This record gives sequence, structure tokens and C-alpha cells, in this order.
Amino acid sequence: MRWRIVSTAALPADLAALVGGEVELIAPAAGAVPLASLARELATADALVPLLTERVDAAVLDAAPRLRIVANYAVGFDNIDVAAATARGVCVANTPDVLTEATADLTFALILAAARRLGEGERLVRGGRWTGWAPDQLLGVDVHGRTLGLVGYGRIARAVARRAAGFAMEVLYTTRGGGVALDELCARADVISVHCPLTPQTRGLFDAARLARLKPTAILVNTARGPIVDEAALAAALAAGRLAGAGLDVFAEEPAIHPALLACERVVLAPHIGSATTTARRRMVELCASAVRAVRSGEQPANLVNPEVWPEARRRARAAEARA
Ligand code: DGY
Repeated sequence: MRWRIVSTAALPADLAALVGGEVELIAPAAGAVPLASLARELATADALVPLLTERVDAAVLDAAPRLRIVANYAVGFDNIDVAAATARGVCVANTPDVLTEATADLTFALILAAARRLGEGERLVRGGRWTGWAPDQLLGVDVHGRTLGLVGYGRIARAVARRAAGFAMEVLYTTRGGGVALDELCARADVISVHCPLTPQTRGLFDAARLARLKPTAILVNTARGPIVDEAALAAALAAGRLAGAGLDVFAEEPAIHPALLACERVVLAPHIGSATTTARRRMVELCASAVRAVRSGEQPANLVNPEVWPEARRRARAAEARA
């Protein structure tokens, strides 16, 4: 049976070839298009591969009655209403593992850049304002031998912890099943790195009150999701010298950046490039394709985020087979 796959973006590998068999891929030739512009295509889609910037909610799912899988081109899936998908027998898959090391590398890059004021230094040099070596120029904070606090302890956090071992850092972490309390981590860590998913419980987790608990010499890095950190409160803390620096790869209203952050020298800003290596982005396509292929052949994808959907998804697969 021919499957119709709708992708909201041109991806860096041949999704249709990777899925294999009889498929029709509906995707822009280059760049990305909003899901809202694909209403007609969605009406007959069997699979949807959205970017993390697209909200897949109950209304989108209702407009796609044939849909069997949403294979999110991201490991985070806060853009998808998973409960609504499960209620409709739609599988949701993501891209774990393949971007872990790339994102951990970028996290460490931001830790070092923020601690050693690399952004400020680069702006000084490029702006022609550097007048030469000086004993007190751009003094930063040490990373080596300091304490790293990981908020959330999933795959990416653990990969950051492995890197921290090379910097002789003590590692603290919070996790639902153990670790230290968040307040203790905030009080003790010199570098705090955010790795928890965005949920109603983590939205605004680093608000003004929590930021006030950090050491004034601390560095805060966020490569998870923007809304976990209150950007106005962070900019205020940095401007007041209540925090030494920050590194952000994610923002609350991407691609807009809070004006107070843009005005702040002590924050290193990256355009959500945690997984942006050629290898990771290709392997993310492979994982989306393998999930689509599995669902089409009636097998449970390894990267299913709503396994509870599987009995209903399999029933839909059998019904579709019988109709074919
Ligand atoms: C993800 O996959 O969730 C990342 O944020 C993409 O870089």
C-alpha cells in the first residue's frame, strides 16, 4: 500500500528512500513550511514528520484522519500533544541517542564560552576595540575542578557528565528517582546545565526566585528548551552581577530573542544548534524513517514515545491491511 508522508521541511537525507517501498513524500524542495499551509496534504497523510517548531495538537490530528505516526524530527517532543495522539491511535516517535554527543559537545562549548567570556572577547576583537594584553582583561571563572550541576539526568546530561570528568569536575544532578534536591544543586554548583524536558512542571523552573539561589560566580547553561528559564529574570540577574554568565542555545519565543538578553554582554547566545552536526542531523532522518517504516509494517518502533498506543495502532494497521 502506498504511504503518503508529509514532512514540513526539506531534510538532509532522502526520507522516502530511507523508508523504502511505495511512498509518496510531500515536502518543500528547500527550507521549511508551516504545518498550517499543509492542511490539504494532511487530510490524506499516513505519516507526518514535523520540525520541533510545529505544534501538533488535537486540531491538527483531527484534520489528518488517516494519520498513523508523527515522527518528530527532534528528541524533545513538547511540540506534540502526545495524549491527543494516543487517544486517536496515532504513534509518536522522536530521535533519541543520535544527537546525544553532538548536543553534549555544544553544551560544553557554551559552558566554556560563558565561563571564559568568549563572546565578549570576540566582539572586542572584531569591533577593533582590543588594545592589547592586559592583566585584568576579561577575567572569567574557572571550569576545571569546579562543581557541575545537571538539572535532569537523561542521555544528554550523562554525556555532559562524561565530558566533565575530563575537567576534574564534581558532578551533581537532579532526577525524579534520585540525585540531589534542586535547591541544594543551585546552592552548590558553579556551573548549572539544564537538561530536563519542557513540561508544565519545568516551565519557568529557573525564575527570579530560583536564580537568586545560584552563586554570584555561577554560570547557567540551557540547551534543553527556552521556557524552562525566565529570560527577563536571567538578564536582570546578569546585569546586576548576581550571576557570572550564561550560555543559551534555546529561547522561549524562537527565533525571537528577549531584548534584555540581546543587550546583555555576559550571555553567549546560540541559534538552537545543539544537534547541528552533519552526522547527527542525517541520523535523525534515519530514525524518523525507521519509525515510519516500522509502523507501516505493523511493527512497534524502537523510538515510540507513547508505547501505550501500540495495541490500538496495531489494530488500525490490521484494519488498513484488510481494506487494501
Ligand atoms: C531536539 O532534538 O529536541 C533538539 O532541540 C534539536 O536540536
